[in-house]
Amino acid sequence: MTADALAYPTQTRLFDALDDQPLDAMLTLLKQLRGDPRPDKIDLGIGVYGDEAGRTPVMRAVRQAELIIAEAQTTKAYVAAEGDTRFVALLAPVVLGAPRAADDRYCGMQTPGGTGALRLAAELIARANPQTRVWVGAPTWVNHYSLVRSAGLQVLEHPFFDQVTQTVLFDEMISALEAARPGDVLLLHACCHNPTGAGFTAGQWRVIAGLCVRKGLLPLIDIAYQGLGHGLEEDAAAMRALLDIVPEAIITASCSKNFGLYRDRLGALWIKGSNAQAALRARANCIKVGRSMWSMPPDHGASVVRTILESTELTATWLAELATMRTRINAMRAELARAVPPLGVVAQQTGMFVLLPLTRDTVTELRVRHGIYMIENGRMNVAGLTSENLPRFAAALEPYLSKGE
Ligand code: LMR
Repeated sequence: MTADALAYPTQTRLFDALDDQPLDAMLTLLKQLRGDPRPDKIDLGIGVYGDEAGRTPVMRAVRQAELIIAEAQTTKAYVAAEGDTRFVALLAPVVLGAPRAADDRYCGMQTPGGTGALRLAAELIARANPQTRVWVGAPTWVNHYSLVRSAGLQVLEHPFFDQVTQTVLFDEMISALEAARPGDVLLLHACCHNPTGAGFTAGQWRVIAGLCVRKGLLPLIDIAYQGLGHGLEEDAAAMRALLDIVPEAIITASCSKNFGLYRDRLGALWIKGSNAQAALRARANCIKVGRSMWSMPPDHGASVVRTILESTELTATWLAELATMRTRINAMRAELARAVPPLGVVAQQTGMFVLLPLTRDTVTELRVRHGIYMIENGRMNVAGLTSENLPRFAAALEPYLSKGE
């Protein structure tokens, strides 16, 4: 031991006071998967798109944009606290639709991933009113809880989905939300619900919009999977209709999935304010918060998406690739529904995820015995299925479903 260490009073050892922190379900699984040497393991875990060969390649439009950027970029100097404003302006019509993108009551900024947008949204809400309560439908993406709670806000759950019958519990949701108070926030998934793949009908969305107006709830809409359900426009339609009815809202978007930019951490947040000044003020608050968390968002992904959306040709390439991903996901859904008849409903659901009616023990058994990786709550990523591994997956799953789990 050195003299310095001896002189350091033990009671000042700050880190001894910390609790152990297990990784969350998603990250634990990723670690287990990477440590599994079995060549035929099936990765249905974290929400990353896999092609028919089980790979997650860099999208062609992204690669081409990166080559352009590598040639043209002359500096790595800082961009801005709000990120690349041209990227935000070009993405706005994609997410919000042209009329809202041109409406000055909407104000946006770039964020580090959709996760960064959600955290920023939670911080903004806490700044406006730290007593705000945030309603989430059970089950929701595991990280929603920590993102909201990290900002000091209270999370309340309302029923959303029954895992056994694979149905949306709409009436239960609406009656639970009768307990909501004016000023509460309602967290909604615009499309491709994570983890269930289930969604509301257009009529149900109208009821939700009416409820938000009647009870004075602020919708916080997570649109992380736009384009992977029915199409870019189709997946945003219900959200946009709701936005046209409510006076205020927050929208969080991600380019992780639809541009395949997972590791580049690119997302965006928009605020709809009751008027332009309110929206600008809210964004100024977001910029202030962002400055104290990450200072400025990383630029690479934003340059890529800006370059794609500035070019008609690259946009067409991107849209075609996105359509290929969507078509493959939907084909795997249809194939799974055919191969495992009790799961017929998955063909009607959308996006990457299905929440299988399995116990945690079964999920563990599938992993240990068959090398099939999914999240402990039974969430599987359909985009990890291929024509080759699907029959093996279906055969491994079938006995548990016929046992009536
Ligand atoms: C997922 O739900 O798998 C993704 O959103 C990745 C993540 O960070 O959890």
